[in-house]
Amino acid sequence: MIKVAPSVLSADFGNLQRDVEAICAAGCDLVHIDVMDGHFVPNLTIGPVVVSAIAKCATKPLDIHLMVQNNTFFVELFAPLKPEYISFHIEEEKHPHRLIQKIRSLGIKPAIVLNPHTPLESIEYLLQDLNMVLLMSVNPGFGGQSFIDTVIPKAARLSELRDKINPKCLIEVDGGISDKNIQSLKDVGVDVVVAGSYIFNHASKEEAIKSLQI
Ligand code: DX5
Ligand code: ZN
Repeated sequence: MIKVAPSVLSADFGNLQRDVEAICAAGCDLVHIDVMDGHFVPNLTIGPVVVSAIAKCATKPLDIHLMVQNNTFFVELFAPLKPEYISFHIEEEKHPHRLIQKIRSLGIKPAIVLNPHTPLESIEYLLQDLNMVLLMSVNPGFGGQSFIDTVIPKAARLSELRDKINPKCLIEVDGGISDKNIQSLKDVGVDVVVAGSYIFNHASKEEAIKSLQI
């Protein structure tokens, strides 16, 4: 079954505790947290003070998605919160292999994110060391954007590659996901989906999450 990681970016930040508790009670698998620094992407979100507040009320493991320039600094900042995953963008890291080892040494599962245009070849030699690869299906920076459907053949190719190199490595897709495209993601072997606006704009978070857990 596909695992669902609601993106807290689409929550009501005036009622963050209520919304984080609601997605956990509604049966999500992970809590996805988008950290943006205003440099790597043209948006600024939340830092350690707010993420630690989320960690306190979340009853599901955290999936931290870094969209920042200085990955090592942010990994060290968030490590004490004991997230399940920290993912960083390959486009913004000169020493990805070193950073993977560092994340693992902190007891966290390392994941790498690829923007829509970034070729799979850029992570082929890292795949054996990863717990998850996150494919962006929108340009990172904002919730509520339209799904870029070239991610489907990309996920299919990644699925073949991981079956050969590291069958335990999960494939996650992030951006523009809803009940309209979930089946096509399932068909090509995607394991985890991130969904923000679809879940938070739905009348029932539980129904929305269930419609993706296929
Ligand atoms: C975009 C973020 C996503 C986004 C998902 O940069 O990584 O997690 O908030 O939101 P939706 O599902 O609304 O595209
Ligand atoms: Zn994200």
